[in-house]
Amino acid sequence: MTDVLVAYATKMGSTKEIAEAIGERLRAAGHEVTVLDAAQVRSVEHHSALVLGSGLYAGRWRREAVKLLKRNEKMLVDRPTWLFHSGPLGKNLTAQPAPRKVREIATRIGADEPVTFPGRLTAQTATGFIAKKMAQGAMAGDFRDFGEIRAWADRVAEQLSAVDSPVPPAAA
Ligand SMILES: Cc1cc2nc3c(=O)[nH]c(=O)nc-3n(C[C@H](O)[C@H](O)[C@H](O)COP(=O)(O)O)c2cc1C
Repeated sequence: MTDVLVAYATKMGSTKEIAEAIGERLRAAGHEVTVLDAAQVRSVEHHSALVLGSGLYAGRWRREAVKLLKRNEKMLVDRPTWLFHSGPLGKNLTAQPAPRKVREIATRIGADEPVTFPGRLTAQTATGFIAKKMAQGAMAGDFRDFGEIRAWADRVAEQLSAVDSPVPPAAA
């Protein structure tokens, strides 16, 4: 069993819900899971794996998620890490490139580049002038696909189980 930290950085709450859905699937697969706001995480030392996600704003990750990565880079070399970001809205739900800093750290710690999950922007949840304006247009809606998110989490759970119980080398 692995103690996985699922950390998220959000402004309008949708990435938190994605993180919670991921946490539930990992737990259902038998892993011990802690889901936390990235701003509350000082260190990953008490966790053996990390799933980290951020909402995307102007192509960037939220600062607290980048800080978590930077601060824990050395420890993450020894801890399997999965990254995601959430953002695309409207008709164009294509994968988004990770910010350069995130890509560089991902490479150094041996993690894949973040997967992209579509995001949510609604009049009810938008905070701030620009977001509220955007929420009146074609970008408005909840484009998250929880089936896709859970399927991804299930693959993470499988990989975690493989780390926990590596297949012994075949007898010579
Ligand atoms: C001002 C603003 C800028 C945004 N910039 C991006 C962006 O660059 N790329 C993207 O894919 N989504 C972008 N989005 C969409 C958000 O990432 C999306 O609403 C996401 O679900 C928000 O996550 P949160 O609710 O966890 O904060 C932007 C939204 C706002 C309001």
